[in-house]
Amino acid sequence: MDIEKLATTAQAIVAKGKGILAADESFGTIEKRFKKIGVSSTEENRRAYRELLFTTKGIGEFISGVILFDETLRQASADRTPFPKVLQKAGSIPGIKVDIGAKPLAGFPGEKITEGLDGLRERLAEYFKLGARFTKWRAVITIGNGIPTRFCIDANAHALAQYAALSQEAGLVPIVEPEVLMDGDHSIERCAEVTETTLKSLYFHLHAHRVVLEGTLLKPNMVIAGKSCPTQAKVGQVAQATVDVLRRCVPAAVPGIVFLSGGQSETEATVHLNAMNRISGLPWELSFSYGRALQASALDAWGGKASQLGAAQKAYYHRAKLNGAARHGKYTPAMESAG
Ligand code: 13P
Repeated sequence: MDIEKLATTAQAIVAKGKGILAADESFGTIEKRFKKIGVSSTEENRRAYRELLFTTKGIGEFISGVILFDETLRQASADRTPFPKVLQKAGSIPGIKVDIGAKPLAGFPGEKITEGLDGLRERLAEYFKLGARFTKWRAVITIGNGIPTRFCIDANAHALAQYAALSQEAGLVPIVEPEVLMDGDHSIERCAEVTETTLKSLYFHLHAHRVVLEGTLLKPNMVIAGKSCPTQAKVGQVAQATVDVLRRCVPAAVPGIVFLSGGQSETEATVHLNAMNRISGLPWELSFSYGRALQASALDAWGGKASQLGAAQKAYYHRAKLNGAARHGKYTPAMESAG
């Protein structure tokens, strides 16, 4: 294992002013997103949509890495350039989602365990050959009546650590993603408590599996009240609560933290990241790895029409640029309309 190479890749992904596009929607998820805009999820539509994103002019200025789905890693642009090459040319590092989804955890109603460890070593070797240089594994923690259980948190942390060790062995930087879901009416305090327990368990298991933290990235949720909680926290509160929890749990050896958007609107995700980057004295880069919060406007603008390609690329570029500004704590609401 070449630790230095892993650390260099991890640092490049969290370079100043840049972040990750999560374009790794599985078949089920992309179908859901396409349905909203009246587009059927055919292989060609999925390819055309991803090409639109990857070939947006100048996007490498703000997008350091792109997480792909297995199918997308094997696809190519209309001129037959494999997507990993397209991304490299644009200045972004290709990555790949390697888990195969969160499934019900037997014996624990309402809780999930992420699967995909079987045969993972072989899949990782192939992904490296196809050009991927980092990976992602998402665990899901649900807040509800009597959940999450300690068992569910630890089982998912164990799987994340096993995945991370295998990923580093294959020369790929693991992005560990333990997502505490926004679904529910829980308070921001409850989210803080669950996120802290989850991250402490995760770093315990990463240590136990001898994962080298310098060659990893963390993709957590922000600490935020549940979607249906009547009292929503203010921007400053979300930023402070998130940073407080991270400080208690994430060792300074981790080069960067790349947040998921998790159902926040595009603007909310940008505003929260911006507020966190205004807090000084933090040991890690605070960046983004957004799916919905980078793509929502672009998807709407596209609507499956080739004639709308330019408008969709413009919307995506604009969103990436605003998040790039938030990486420096330099985003202002006035920038929203400037695009
Ligand atoms: P969202 O930003 O839409 O939550 O997606 C990020 C992601 O990759 C979830 O695994």
